[in-house]
Amino acid sequence: MKTTITEVNKYVGQEVTIGAWVSNKRSSGKIAFLQLRDGTGFIQGVVVKNDVDEEVFQKAKSLTQETSIFVTGTIQEDSRSSFGFELLVKEIQVINESHDFPITPKEHGTEFLMDHRHLWLRSRRQHAVMKIRNEIIRATYEFFNENGFTKVDPPILTGSAPEGTTELFHTKYFEEDAYLSQSGQLYMEAAAFALGKVFSFGPTFRAEKSKTRRHLIEFWMIEPEMAFYEHEDSLQVQEQYVSHIVQSVLKNCKLELERLGRDTSKLEQIKAPFPRISYDDAVKFLHEKGFDDIEWGDDFGAPHETAIAESFDKPVFITNYPTSLKPFYMQPHPERPEVVLCADLIAPEGYGEIIGGSERIHDYELMKKRIEEHGLPVEAYQWYLELRQYGSVPHSGFGLGLERTVAWISGVEHVRETIPFPRLLNRLYP
Ligand code: 4AD
Ligand code: MG
Repeated sequence: MKTTITEVNKYVGQEVTIGAWVSNKRSSGKIAFLQLRDGTGFIQGVVVKNDVDEEVFQKAKSLTQETSIFVTGTIQEDSRSSFGFELLVKEIQVINESHDFPITPKEHGTEFLMDHRHLWLRSRRQHAVMKIRNEIIRATYEFFNENGFTKVDPPILTGSAPEGTTELFHTKYFEEDAYLSQSGQLYMEAAAFALGKVFSFGPTFRAEKSKTRRHLIEFWMIEPEMAFYEHEDSLQVQEQYVSHIVQSVLKNCKLELERLGRDTSKLEQIKAPFPRISYDDAVKFLHEKGFDDIEWGDDFGAPHETAIAESFDKPVFITNYPTSLKPFYMQPHPERPEVVLCADLIAPEGYGEIIGGSERIHDYELMKKRIEEHGLPVEAYQWYLELRQYGSVPHSGFGLGLERTVAWISGVEHVRETIPFPRLLNRLYP
């Protein structure tokens, strides 16, 4: 019976054949232990000299790292491994020998691993992170589909900039100028007026010269947008959504979290509602903590966000930032025009901002004024303004950065390990 490692629990005591790679091997005179992986999981193969043909035992002993094989044997329960099963090997057929695989069990430097990302992805740790990323994606679709949202795909080649003009990737669009999308938000606003509650999920691009553990040049964003939702309504969607993905990973990725050594007690507490702190109070709090470098009107840096996050055991919303710090489209606070109806969601444990969101300006005149004040070309935003001319309504939305969320939930330090092929400052290879 041909099967995969994740399915072996169905074949205890039976003979199966698995296509696999040898990730490591240990052998003595009488027994060989093969660490096998097939992409779906990891299992130990045991080859006992006295139980197999001499030729099979010699073959097992000579297997090199990453050689691909078909291996046949009997599935046994194994209470010592967290996976719970092992394979008692009977037969080995080599598919392709691998020699001098560059990534050995010894420690390698980050740049070396990044240069070999196409091979590094095979490691147990990277496998776990990719599985958690996939679970977050699955739980995202589940959450929005179950809550009446329609997925809408905004364009990637665009003629306008939602998040400021300094970080745009420019390209030629035949004779015209075009930009790679930084955010699908403006198009999602149009979609919300057509379909009510919508979400997008796609790649976004920022030509940011930032070299931090939180910044990618190309990253994936989930952007929900809801017609007739005020700011507070949107915060409730955000905390429920984030709780749902954390609880789904806890439930469906136990082995992966264990492999990464993640402290899951910290994740178990992540349930809605989440605390809120206004920007004003956050500034006061930072002063009390001795951050004299911050004045009202300044943006927070990573150390400030971390200090705020550390006083909560759940993600925290920082609400109502100064208007001057935020993009042109945010709805002013009704009593205080110097701040906007927005929130950033800051993850615990120093992972920083994972969501940015706001209520959107729905008044035509105010929106036009803001576009002009920000020095944006009104012609390019004509269609966006028209949304405010034909039955405009209050609406709100947000964007969750997938890689920062994967980093936080997996407990990995740097976003470069949370996307298969990271695009970083000075890195377009592999
Ligand atoms: O806060 P941002 O810039 O918000 C927007 O783009 C809005 N238009 C979203 C919306 O309301 N529809 O980005 C949203 C999130 C951030 O909170 C962060 O998680 C992630 O996207 N993000 C990045 N992730 C990795 N690398 C980068 N360079 C990122 N820039 C933003
Ligand atoms: Mg932001």
